[in-house]
Amino acid sequence: MKLWLAMVILIAIILSTTMYCVLPRSQGEHVMVFPKWKKYYNLTPEIIDSDAHNAYIEIYLNDIAKDAYINVDPVFKEGAKVFKPLYADPDGKEFARLVIMVKMEAGYDSENGDWWYGVYDESGMKMWYEGRIPECIACHAMAKETDYMFSRSVMKRITGIDTNEFEEYLKE
Ligand code: HEC
Repeated sequence: MKLWLAMVILIAIILSTTMYCVLPRSQGEHVMVFPKWKKYYNLTPEIIDSDAHNAYIEIYLNDIAKDAYINVDPVFKEGAKVFKPLYADPDGKEFARLVIMVKMEAGYDSENGDWWYGVYDESGMKMWYEGRIPECIACHAMAKETDYMFSRSVMKRITGIDTNEFEEYLKE
C-alpha cells in the first residue's frame, strides 16, 4: 500500500474516534438548533422559582404550544416547542442551561407522548443532550395527564389560581 494512503486512513481513524468521544451525546436522528428561542412568547416576564431544581426559571412557548400550555390542555399538537432557561440567581444574570421539549410526529416515542427533549447552551445552538432522554421522561411522566407538561403547577405559580378555577379566571 502506498504510504500516503496509509497515512490518510490513519488520520481518518484518529479523527473519527476523537470526534465520537468529544461530541455531545446524541441519538442522531433529530439534531435541532434554536437560534430564535428568545423571540417566542415569554410566559414568565418575572423569573420564578423552579419546583424541580435548585434554580430560577422562565418559560417560552412557540405559537403551537402557547394556548395549550396556558389552558392546561391534556394534549399538545405536533410542532409545539417549549423552552425553559434555568438561572443560578433570581435576577437571571447567571445562565445555567436551556432545557427544551418539542412535540414530534406520532410514533417518535408513542409510549411517552412523542416528546423530544434537549439540553442546550444559552445560544440554543450548542447541544449537550438530546432525544428520548430517560431521566427527563421519568420525571415528566408525573404530569402525564397534561401531556408531560408541568403546565398546571407553573400556571398556578404565575396566576395563583388552580386549574379547576382556571376557566373562570380566563373568562374575566
Ligand atoms: C425531577 C423532575 C424533573 C426532571 C428530571 C426534569 N424535569 Fe423538566 N420540569 C420539571 C418541573 C417540575 C417543571 C415545571 C417548571 C419548574 O418548576 O421547574 C419542568 C419543566 C420543564 C419544561 C417546561 C415545560 C413544562 O413541563 O412545564 C421543559 C422544556 C423541561 N422541563 C425540560 C426538561 C428536560 C429536557 C429534562 C431532562 C434533561 C427535564 N426537564 C428533566 C421537572 C423535571
